[in-house]
Amino acid sequence: MASDLVTQASSLLKTQSLGRELKWYDSIASTNSEALKHAKMGASEGLVIGTEHQTAGRGRHGRPWTGTTGHNLLFSVILWPRLAPKATSLIPLAAGIAVAEAIELETTLSPLLKWPNDVLINNKKVCGILVEGHVQLQHKEHACVVGIGLNVNQTEFSDDLVQSASSLFLLSGQQIPRAPLLAKILLHLEQRYQSLLQGEIETVRPTFEQRMVHMNEHVLIHSMHNTSSFEGVIRGIAQDGALRLETDSGIQHVHAGEVSLSSTQNDSNRTL
Ligand code: BTN
Repeated sequence: MASDLVTQASSLLKTQSLGRELKWYDSIASTNSEALKHAKMGASEGLVIGTEHQTAGRGRHGRPWTGTTGHNLLFSVILWPRLAPKATSLIPLAAGIAVAEAIELETTLSPLLKWPNDVLINNKKVCGILVEGHVQLQHKEHACVVGIGLNVNQTEFSDDLVQSASSLFLLSGQQIPRAPLLAKILLHLEQRYQSLLQGEIETVRPTFEQRMVHMNEHVLIHSMHNTSSFEGVIRGIAQDGALRLETDSGIQHVHAGEVSLSSTQNDSNRTL
């Protein structure tokens, strides 16, 4: 199963570097953990680690990431971004855009983005992205692992997820071939990444805002461990990818690492 996917995706790939080396496992703890291990050993930029099943898949804020074996796309891309911190912090948003664009091209669906990088369709989460870093002290270079979990052909979700998560299959009523989707995601991620490397940091912000849910809506921002929250109206994205939130004390820039957000506008008052 894994080798078919790799053969098909490789033959469709139009990238220069991302996915030119693909390691795809039947089962692994976490593609992000494996990719970080490879990065520490000096793996090249563009290496993709993927799997049909994760035994310890990780989400943001230490949450687990689960899914049905062989139905989804679970993979991590290694980058060595020689970028200023401001541009590096746009990589998670660029990854969300790449996934949304690829879904739009390969299905009949119209994905939206929830800051910082969840991909939503019909208000349900179909993809989560976890970007993690590793510093290679010897050369002072930073690897960045972009981990993508996209629910493609999964047919069922557990009771605790069924209200908030879905798959491309459930939302479109069609089985979606995974290889072309993987090839498109890698192509769009590479294009977005290349434009960041070329200094075009201004393109991520408006592209993200065009697809962003909760724009100009009142939201609650929760601290990492849900120990506190504050509120405001989303006014867009700052140049470094932070959320621009209008609060009682003016516009504040909220950074993704520490927080998650939930809407106060409808019955989906939950943190995805
Ligand atoms: C989120 O919480 O929304 C982010 C989920 C990220 C899940 C993906 S699946 C592939 C990669 N490996 C992991 O362990 N996590 C990411």
